[in-house]
Amino acid sequence: MTNHEFTRQEIYDEFFRQRTDKVKYSQTYAEVFSRIDPKIILEIGVAGGGGIRAFRTFFPEAKVYGIDYDPNLNPDECHFVGDQADSEFLERVISQTGQPDLVIDDGSHRWSDLRTSFDVLFPHLTEGGLYIVEDLETSYVDFFGDTEPFTEFLKSLLDVTVHEWTNEMSVCSMHLYPRLAVLEKGTPTLMDLGHDWKLAEAVLTINI
Ligand SMILES: C[S@@+](CC[C@H](N)C(=O)[O-])C[C@H]1O[C@@H](n2cnc3c(N)ncnc32)[C@H](O)[C@@H]1O
Repeated sequence: MTNHEFTRQEIYDEFFRQRTDKVKYSQTYAEVFSRIDPKIILEIGVAGGGGIRAFRTFFPEAKVYGIDYDPNLNPDECHFVGDQADSEFLERVISQTGQPDLVIDDGSHRWSDLRTSFDVLFPHLTEGGLYIVEDLETSYVDFFGDTEPFTEFLKSLLDVTVHEWTNEMSVCSMHLYPRLAVLEKGTPTLMDLGHDWKLAEAVLTINI
């Protein structure tokens, strides 16, 4: 599925060179990058553009787009100026970028903003696409809170992802790391119930 195998050290070095605080996620991104071959990447929260530049280094064939509400950033890194809490703005972004394979939310970290962005953008991900939310320690800091902490939402997703073999969000896997979550878009197939089709059919028949 992917030819992108980078070591933790290679990723650390590039994040460090680009001056992004993603250095703390070097091991996590080494695992994430080994699973994907993204054509369209969208990062919420550009700031100095270190994340955008690093993604371009790792995926030179990909189109890498940034969103930020700060109008004074480098337009080559921040392509869309707007608020991640604005659903219509995010829909307009997607209409111009096309369906992303990888979304990274490193924006405001406000709980309601995380949910709005996720609710709008996750359905637009390609099948097999990944949605990353960084800095989830903010779910435990009231300063970022106005609604439900994003980690509480993740807990409810855990219930539907594990208990039900399809869910309307099409979250087919969740990977939780220190401070960071990776949600995979996908529709489980009958085969996901087991390698044995007869067994899978039998399981479906008794409708557990
Ligand atoms: C932590 S910095 C991003 C760092 C960058 N991703 C990197 O790897 O170097 C957070 C950015 O999110 C932006 N931001 C904060 N709230 C936002 C919002 N509601 N909508 C869009 N961008 C927002 C800030 O302007 C800031 O540039």
